[in-house]
Parts: sequence; C-alpha cells; structure tokens
Amino acid sequence: MRVLVTGATGVAGRGAVPALVAAGHAVTAASRSPAKAELLRSWGADPVEIDLFDPTATKRVVRDHDAVCNLATHIPSLTRAGLPGAWKENDRIRRLVSANLIAGAVAGDASHFVQESIGFVYPDRGDEWIDEQVEPHPTAVTESALEAEAIVARFTRDGRTGVVLRFAQFYGPGAIHSRQAVRMAARWGIAPSIGDPHGYVSSIHGDDVGPAVAAALQAPAGVYNVVDDEPLRRSELHAVFAEALGRRQLRELGKVLARLGGGKSEAVARSQRLANAGFKAVTGWEPSVPSARDGWPPIIADQMGL
Ligand SMILES: NC(=O)c1ccc[n+]([C@@H]2O[C@H](COP(=O)([O-])OP(=O)(O)OC[C@H]3O[C@@H](n4cnc5c(N)ncnc54)[C@H](OP(=O)(O)O)[C@@H]3O)[C@@H](O)[C@H]2O)c1
Repeated sequence: MRVLVTGATGVAGRGAVPALVAAGHAVTAASRSPAKAELLRSWGADPVEIDLFDPTATKRVVRDHDAVCNLATHIPSLTRAGLPGAWKENDRIRRLVSANLIAGAVAGDASHFVQESIGFVYPDRGDEWIDEQVEPHPTAVTESALEAEAIVARFTRDGRTGVVLRFAQFYGPGAIHSRQAVRMAARWGIAPSIGDPHGYVSSIHGDDVGPAVAAALQAPAGVYNVVDDEPLRRSELHAVFAEALGRRQLRELGKVLARLGGGKSEAVARSQRLANAGFKAVTGWEPSVPSARDGWPPIIADQMGL
C-alpha cells in the first residue's frame, strides 16, 4: 500500500516508518522540519513537508495514498504538563489534523486510516482488566483523543477501515518523559508515576509501538488497546526503578504531584490494567518487551552510565 505517516519523527513514528517499509509498503513520511528529511530517507521513506492544519495542502498530499497513519502529537514534557495551556497544541492536532487527514483520505479514496489514541481515556478500574468494551471516561486532557476517534468512526461508517490504537504509556530510551522520570528518580529519589501505589500502570516499550502501527493495517475496523502483557502495580514499577538505581526505595509523591497538576494529572493517576488480547487476536502482534519489569532496567542503566 502507499502509506502516509504523520508524526513520523516522534516516538511512535520512528518505529512505525521502518516497520511499514519492512512490511513492503511505499511510505511517505511527514515532518515540518526539512532537516529531518535525510533521516526519514534513511529509514526508506519519501519525506514530505505539510502544514497539517491547512486542509487544502493536506488533501493534496493525502490523495495519492491508500492509507494514512496519523501519529502526530504534541505531548508536553513532565515539567510542563500541569501548566495552563500545556495541552492546547495537542488538542488542536487531535481535533483539526485528524479531521483534515480524514477529509483528504475520503476525497482521495483511501481505504485505511490508523489513528493514535491513548489508554488514559478509560476510567479507573482498580484491579480489573480493561478491554475495549469498557466505556471511556475522559478528562479535559483526553477529550480531544475521543473526538479524533469519533472522526475515524465516521470514516469506517463510510465503508472504509478506520483503526484506533489506544496506546498504553510509552517508555524507552528515545522518549523525553522516560529520561525525565529516570532523572527525577536518580537525583531526588522521586517515584516515576503518580497515583495510588496499589493501582496499575499500563506501559508499552517504544520498540513495540512501530510494529503495532504496521500490524494495524491488517486489522478490521475498530478500537484496540496496544499495551504490553503485564501492567504493573505502581509499587512494583517503583521497586524496579529503585533496584536499578541501587536505592532502597523511592518517595511516593503521587498525591502532592497530582494536586500540583490539578485536573490535568487525573487521567495518569488512575489505576488502569489494560488488556491487549483483542489486538493480538486480529493482528498476531506480540510485544518484544512483554513487561516493563524487564524493559526499564537497561534504559535506566544506559542513561545513568551504570
Ligand atoms: N502513549 C503515550 O504515552 C505517548 C504518546 C505520544 C507521546 N508520548 C510522549 O511524549 C513525549 C514527546 O513525544 P514525541 O517525542 O513523539 O514528540 P511530539 O512532540 O509528541 O511529536 C511527535 C510527532 O508529531 C509531530 N508533530 C508535533 N506537532 C506537530 C504539528 N503542529 N504539526 C505537524 N506535526 C506535528 C512531530 O513532527 P515534526 O517532525 O514535524 O516535529 C513528531 O513527529 C515522549 O516522551 C513520548 O513518549 C507518549
């Protein structure tokens, strides 16, 4: 297929582009930065610069493609996430860019559309597993993800294949949030996630995101959780960090940080034990790092030069 990838240079895109090329697709990869064109070419893609907020320019590029994978996001760093307006650009991307791309895909008669979304749309379910049947309960920060999902559902109702990937929390060596979390834990002994220590965090290693995007082109239309096999209790995750850093334990600042972040941190403080059986069943995708228990120690060791 001729596939257009937006957000091609981000954590999701930089795995997705090579995975799509390896699967035999002809990939066009979008970036706003001409400096990144060479990088995109080195992954086997054809680079393109588009203003995704311009509907006409977007339509012009999309019309030559059979599929679009929309991975553009603008997630604020941990230190900015609680500030006023920090999520505004991400909301604009979710709402306007998704709509422009879908309009282009419909006009150009594309058959497939893959939209990055986020598992934080689900409610707190304590110890219970969360599959795709669980009704979302968004916060102000995740509302726009559901709006993007609704636009994709219209694409599917039009007789095409719209696939929404509700990703768990990314972590990996190339993710700025991961670097910040390791730095905070190493310097100040602060635990890397906020919320009830008995609550669950669902994760996915950066290496497994791109292959999931490529696999999504095989999936029937629908919404899928994309997450590793073993969501951990926060206390377990914090113990993994403490051990990797050689500390007896880390300080749980969850309640303080949640208060500082106001409503913006509510979604990440929930207990969410996401299940991946649905996506695995339709695509055969398997995470290469099944548990954050094994994924984090080498990342921490590498960053700390241990
Ligand atoms: N599920 C999750 O947990 C999740 C999801 C997404 C991100 N994150 C985290 O957020 C942090 C930042 O993510 P990231 O490194 O992927 O970077 P990012 O800043 O979120 O950007 C991601 C991609 O979106 C594109 N983009 C951003 N703003 C755009 C705009 N206005 N118009 C068009 N394209 C735009 C960028 O393309 P350009 O080449 O044009 O800059 C880039 O390729 C990381 O720590 C990551 O792990 C987490």
